[in-house]
Formats: sequence, structure tokens, C-alpha cells
Amino acid sequence: MYSADRIYEQDCVVQKMMLNVDEVQQTLCTKRFGREILFFHEITSTNDRAKDLARYGASEGTVLITEVQTAGRGRSGKEWISPSGGLWFSVIVRPKAAATETAGLLFVPSVAVVEVLNETYKLQAETKWPNDVLVHGKKICGVLVETNITGIKVKFALLGIGLNANLDPEKSLPEKLRSVSTSLQNELNCGVQLEDLLRRLLEKMEITYDGFLARGSNSIVEQWKKYTSFLGKDAQVLDGNTVMSGVAENVDKDGALILRLADGTTQRVYGDATFRTN
Ligand code: BTN
Repeated sequence: MYSADRIYEQDCVVQKMMLNVDEVQQTLCTKRFGREILFFHEITSTNDRAKDLARYGASEGTVLITEVQTAGRGRSGKEWISPSGGLWFSVIVRPKAAATETAGLLFVPSVAVVEVLNETYKLQAETKWPNDVLVHGKKICGVLVETNITGIKVKFALLGIGLNANLDPEKSLPEKLRSVSTSLQNELNCGVQLEDLLRRLLEKMEITYDGFLARGSNSIVEQWKKYTSFLGKDAQVLDGNTVMSGVAENVDKDGALILRLADGTTQRVYGDATFRTN
């Protein structure tokens, strides 16, 4: 058995100062997401810690959130710089689905983030394949979804979200990331209340996740496509060690990008992409 209380005692040194979990939960309208929230001052990675808890039986919807990550992870083994001011969290889910049917899970967090940013803060956030969220062409949020599979079944999955909330990329991020990153603080010219932001994200994520469970991967990919502007643009994709160039034609229900190559053929690719306006 895992003990939420013990983890609180060990790690939550300044939790009330940074994020008031009670305040999030008082008005939270969800059935599972955020019913258990573990807040940390500093841990290596919320996905890593969530994996441990999930292995010990933590229930669906359990949230781990931290003020600072010392070893935050991005996609493709990249480092994710996670200073104070960001919203760095993971949600444990236990979809009753075959491993082959869970591709749509990748898109659940970014759809939820885009909808909250647009509805609540009136931004024009958009999705960028595979699962970034951009505002004015700059990255405001990254998503790392990791699944734990036994046989053909998904035992659990971790929806890891890194949202640049109350930080200034110019001051808090390394130089190479500054020109390509933004934050809520920069877009709104003021900080946001993190309790309110987290509550809205959890509510939206549960609705989006339940939609995925009920209607499958294809429906969530279609929802995700409504918020994207890169289809039809020239794309370069790093798929393993290979760089592929073409026109981004579509994203299929397995989450692969369909590239139209110069010779007219199409190719399904996975990886990280850059897009150019044609
Ligand atoms: C990416 O864009 O490469 C994905 C970044 C995902 C970062 C989040 S922050 C919370 C969770 N814990 C991690 O170590 N990574 C994800």
C-alpha cells in the first residue's frame, strides 16, 4: 500500500505557500481527477514519482504536482527545465483498454490545456503535433504521456503536463529555449491563480479523458485537429535518426503524422516536428 500522508510529511515543506490543495479540491467538479492530490516542494519528476505510486495501487485520477522538478523529463529523452512558477504535474489513469487502442490518450492533455487557455484566459492557444501547446507560435506547454503495459492490457498511464504559468522564460529558462517559449504570465501580462488553473485543467481533463474512453482514439484525434494550424504546411520530422521532409497532410487515429513526400507518396511518421508556413 502506498501512503499519501507519509509522502506529504516527507516532501511537502512549503506546500501551503505555493499551492493550496484544499482550495483546489473545495470547488473541484470531478469524480476521479484530483480527488487525491499530492503536492511537493521539489522532486525529480512527477511522472517518475507517479509511476511508483501507480505501481503501489494509487487510484485513477491521483495527481502529483510539484513546485520544482530537478530532473523533469520531456519527450525523446530530453530534459524539461522546471523552475518555480510553472505548473508541473502528472495524473495517473487506468484506462480499461487494449494497448493498441490507447494512442488517443496522447492527445487528451493538450486538448484540455488548449480549451482551458482559450475559454478561461481568452488566448488563441493551438495544438502542435505531437503534443505541444503553442500561443503566438511559441511553446507554452509540453505533454509527456507514458504507459505501463502488461501483455496486451494497459495497467496504468501517466499524463504528465508542463505548463509555463507564472514564470518569465527570459529569466527562468535556458537561453536556447527563450525565443521559442512563452508563458501565461507573459501572454496575460500578469500571473494567474494556480489553484484556479489546476482545478479547471483537472475538470477539463476528466471530461476529455471520459470522451476518449467512450468514443475511442479517433474522436479525440478529431477534437485535437480542430485546434491545430500546421496541417497543409511544410514539415520536417525527426523520426529516430532519420529526418523526413514533406507536407503535413493529416494525423491518423494512431497519432502518426502523415507526410506527403516530394515524390507524391505518403509516409506515416512519429517523432518531433518543425513546421514552416508554405
Ligand atoms: C515535452 O514537451 O517534451 C514534454 C514535457 C513534459 C513535462 C512534464 S512536467 C510534469 C511531467 N513530469 C516530467 O518529468 N515531465 C512531465
